[in-house]
Amino acid sequence: MSTYTRINLVARPAPGPITADLFEVVQDEIPVPGPGEILVKQTHMSLDPAMIGWMNADPESYIPPVALGDVMRSSGAGTVVESNHPDFAVGDKVRGMTGWTEYLVSKGEGLNKLPEGLDEETVLAVFALPGLTATQGLYGFGDPKEGETIVVSGAAGSVGSIVGQLAKADGLNVIGVAGDDEKCKWIVDELGFDGAINYKTDDIAAKLEELAPRGVDIYFENTGGPIQQHVFDRMNAHGRIIVCGMIADYTAAKPSPGPNWIPLIKKRITVRGFAMPDHYGDVPALLEKLTPYVMGGKIKYRTHVLEGLESAIDGLNLFFTGGNRGKLIVKL
Ligand SMILES: NC(=O)c1ccc[n+]([C@@H]2O[C@H](COP(=O)([O-])OP(=O)(O)OC[C@H]3O[C@@H](n4cnc5c(N)ncnc54)[C@H](OP(=O)(O)O)[C@@H]3O)[C@@H](O)[C@H]2O)c1
Repeated sequence: MSTYTRINLVARPAPGPITADLFEVVQDEIPVPGPGEILVKQTHMSLDPAMIGWMNADPESYIPPVALGDVMRSSGAGTVVESNHPDFAVGDKVRGMTGWTEYLVSKGEGLNKLPEGLDEETVLAVFALPGLTATQGLYGFGDPKEGETIVVSGAAGSVGSIVGQLAKADGLNVIGVAGDDEKCKWIVDELGFDGAINYKTDDIAAKLEELAPRGVDIYFENTGGPIQQHVFDRMNAHGRIIVCGMIADYTAAKPSPGPNWIPLIKKRITVRGFAMPDHYGDVPALLEKLTPYVMGGKIKYRTHVLEGLESAIDGLNLFFTGGNRGKLIVKL
């Protein structure tokens, strides 16, 4: 008898770090697929800041919470190891909403085969949530134009690093905001951003004035925190603010106050929040937009790989300490 491990969510998080007692690690017999089903061995699991939201029972969330006792929700990639399904063969590599589990049985709904020639890490880091989110946010709502200035917060992260590189390829002046000097150096030296602000150590106002002398046209907001008011103050007339994430507040006991709205009127600024589940129907069009940038060598990425299913639990905290350097992936 062979066993496998899965991790269920059993309690809702309180403000502060994610702790092991929120989860139950379960050993079970590897399931057998029935007629029309496949057995997938997960090999790469994606960790995303959105998981913190999925763990909370927030009635206003864009997606239902993970039910207590259910396998923790996540996306991932794996290999078909048994198949009773006409569309999937043993050895096929697939991706989809897999959950925190080493094996899963599926009827194939929501699972897509990996594109020919792309490995699991590239798919999860670029062509899955990070790249789709960057493309939807920047082009769906940002209306970027050559010569404009964009500020991207969380710029060394999975989404932010792609947003900045897309904007750079389109001829914008790109300023990234990150939480340490290594990340700031990486986005400028390796990714080609025009400038970087370390929001923890730099004089943010002075640095913004130096890097954005003509003001800011687009603000791609991934984090909230101290940077927000400063960028808001430098927005140009008809500027666009795209609110993708507010990680500075995800585990805070009390959300921070936002900027005053009067400049929105005076400068006719658009503020647009979005969540990707609204745009899953647009994935083919988003991939069509993103792929030429990737194939043209315009998009670099790095992955931060953790080993073993249980590393996911404490791994989530890396998002809040800034400990992740690139797309966070758990290798199983
Ligand atoms: N709207 C959507 O549909 C959608 C989809 C995907 C992602 N998102 C959001 O996009 C954001 C980025 O996601 P990601 O997957 O690319 O994560 P990520 O940027 O790779 O990782 C999160 C980063 O946030 C930064 N951070 C943590 N606490 C912070 C704070 N208090 N102030 C400022 N920065 C802080 C850390 O970097 P530093 O070292 O630089 O601080 C950390 O590495 C998240 O807010 C996520 O929820 C939204």
